[in-house]
Amino acid sequence: MDWADIDVMALMTQPDIREHYAKAWAEERTRSDAGAPSVHGSGAEDRVVQPIYLQLLRDLRIPVGEGVGDTLDVGCGAGRWVRFLQEQVKPRTIVGIDITEQSADLLRSRHASTETTAIDFRAADITDPGLELGGTQFDLINIANVLFHIPEHDLFVQALTNLRRHIAPSGCVMTTEYLPRTEMRTPWMLVRSRYTFEKLITQAGFRIAAIRAFTIFNNDPMGIDGPDDGARLLFNTVRQQFSTIEASLTDAQSLAFLTELRANVDRAVLAFCNERLADIDLPSQKLVALVPA
Ligand SMILES: C[S@@+](CC[C@H](N)C(=O)[O-])C[C@H]1O[C@@H](n2cnc3c(N)ncnc32)[C@H](O)[C@@H]1O
Repeated sequence: MDWADIDVMALMTQPDIREHYAKAWAEERTRSDAGAPSVHGSGAEDRVVQPIYLQLLRDLRIPVGEGVGDTLDVGCGAGRWVRFLQEQVKPRTIVGIDITEQSADLLRSRHASTETTAIDFRAADITDPGLELGGTQFDLINIANVLFHIPEHDLFVQALTNLRRHIAPSGCVMTTEYLPRTEMRTPWMLVRSRYTFEKLITQAGFRIAAIRAFTIFNNDPMGIDGPDDGARLLFNTVRQQFSTIEASLTDAQSLAFLTELRANVDRAVLAFCNERLADIDLPSQKLVALVPA
């Protein structure tokens, strides 16, 4: 969709986003209670992103892992990253917050504290000027697929202020961003340009410590700015075709094969691009590590 084609009335703001996810996570709870398998993000994307995430934590020497460190997942939703933190990072504590009560309810039904990791879920708004999380300064704050859902400038700035207030001096905020060269608005998202993003995080007292691209065909190629009928159309066509095949498969073995194929296509294109291009210029999402300036 081009900027010019967007119905201004259809552009969602934070209250609309909150309403949408409250309904989505309530429905997910109903499905979950009925015994349906939990819905997380794309399995193929997780296979690609998780090793990159873990390597980045090691490269930046973020003090988390195996009973070490306090972590916060902002916008924890259906728990995709809580599960990642719990199973792969294994910190001392995980706090999950979401603007919807429904997410906190859902995740309390799915994730319990263990001997090594204390887990707590709360309904809380990262744009709330009075946000209080018990005085903890976190070693790792994960905020995935959330900041672009905050189109209001003042709320976005407040969210960054809150992140800065809650990060430990040697900690890191890991956010997933597209970082296009120009701002892009969809009904769902305001994807700020890389220049605006860097200016605002700098004003909030952060600097970018690292950018790692992690997906090419398993997420929206919003990193490619420009019209929807240009390069993004070609990328979206591939994504659509993968989804069509996925929807037609019924047996677990074929689905597992397709998931691995999708991950391998991403890995191959990523490896090729990483030899030639800066991560910031890759088409899709990036892990962006923000540290106190
Ligand atoms: C696209 S989902 C991402 C969920 C999860 N982080 C993931 O990557 O799978 C966005 C989530 O952010 C939450 N959210 C949106 N605005 C928020 C805010 N101001 N404070 C806290 N959570 C928010 C929504 O309720 C929703 O659960």
